[in-house]
Amino acid sequence: MKNTKVWIIKDEHDEQLIEAAKILKEGGTVAFPTETVYGLGANALLDEAVSGIYEAKGRPSDNPLIVHIADLSLLDELVEHAPYQEELIQAFWPGAITLIFKSKGKVAARVSPGLDTQSIRMPKHPVAKKLIQLAGVPVAAPSANLSGKPSPTDGKHVIEDLNGRVDGIVVYDQSDVGLESTILDLTQSPPMLLRPGGVTVEDIEAVIGKIQIDPALEKKMSENVQPRAPGMKYTHYSPEADVTVVNGPLDEMVKKIQELHDSHTSSVGIMCSDETKDRYKAENIISLGSRESLEEVASNLFKTLRQFDEIGVDIVLAEGYDTVGMGKAIMNRLNKAAGYQVINV
Ligand code: TXA
Ligand code: MG
Repeated sequence: MKNTKVWIIKDEHDEQLIEAAKILKEGGTVAFPTETVYGLGANALLDEAVSGIYEAKGRPSDNPLIVHIADLSLLDELVEHAPYQEELIQAFWPGAITLIFKSKGKVAARVSPGLDTQSIRMPKHPVAKKLIQLAGVPVAAPSANLSGKPSPTDGKHVIEDLNGRVDGIVVYDQSDVGLESTILDLTQSPPMLLRPGGVTVEDIEAVIGKIQIDPALEKKMSENVQPRAPGMKYTHYSPEADVTVVNGPLDEMVKKIQELHDSHTSSVGIMCSDETKDRYKAENIISLGSRESLEEVASNLFKTLRQFDEIGVDIVLAEGYDTVGMGKAIMNRLNKAAGYQVINV
């Protein structure tokens, strides 16, 4: 057990960040808020510090980490130049997109185990930015959950998962985007989407034209296509409850979910939208927000999955979404949470 420090800060100027940054720089593990989800950071230049991340999360050792930077001048030091990088950085950094480059091998080997590439993100969140600046080093950071749990969008989720396992936790606000960053591999031509996220395919294609989509994202896991982002192969991205997604036209979806609900004897949660929430007869109904605002739905998804665990339901029946815009990222995470148990009506 580690003696985890928890800093509840009031803003990015809070002096407590100086202590957090010092621990981070000197090789400790420190969780912090970002606009996508909370991250668990370590000094990317120190192999032992990076090992601490894998240990704290129980993360499979073959799963590479994203390096977070606050200063663009660091990019050339860490990675080789890639096509389209200027346009993409201009359009989306700082923000919810991670770019993959050929590595220059400057960071600790454990950051990208066995790979010659390096993923980099420049977060927009003022606290993340300030902490990385104060630490003065590139920061390797996966999502700050225990491996297998939904990513934390709130400091209290991080405390639930990592208290006693890390050196410190910076607690601030709720993550705005609520899903992990989009991952775009610039070492492929044309660039390839490895994980859908806050920056949509439509957003990217408006800037650099047609991109490729990792074929594994479009297939079911059972079809046995290996995703290129190693972390995307883990299906247990999920809450304790058994999740089933029901997808199709709204009326059919509501009918099927109510039917499934009524046929179960165990306790069931229904994860729906504002448009449908009054149409169910059930005890545990949580709406993710309006279908007119997929940003809102995305930002509530992980939080709601954790909420169903707190209630203690055995089964979650989740409505599906069209895979347009943010819908692509929402369905990707929902399908993973459901271990690809999807009923199309
Ligand atoms: O929004 C985010 O990206 C958050 C915040 C904290 O920045 N971080 C995050 O990290 O989601 P993590 O470790 O939970 O997910 C990173 C994903 C994993 O699936 C990993 O396999 C993939 O990115 N990845 C990282 N580096 C890679 C590389 N060089 N090549 C292929 N995939 C990579
Ligand atoms: Mg993660």
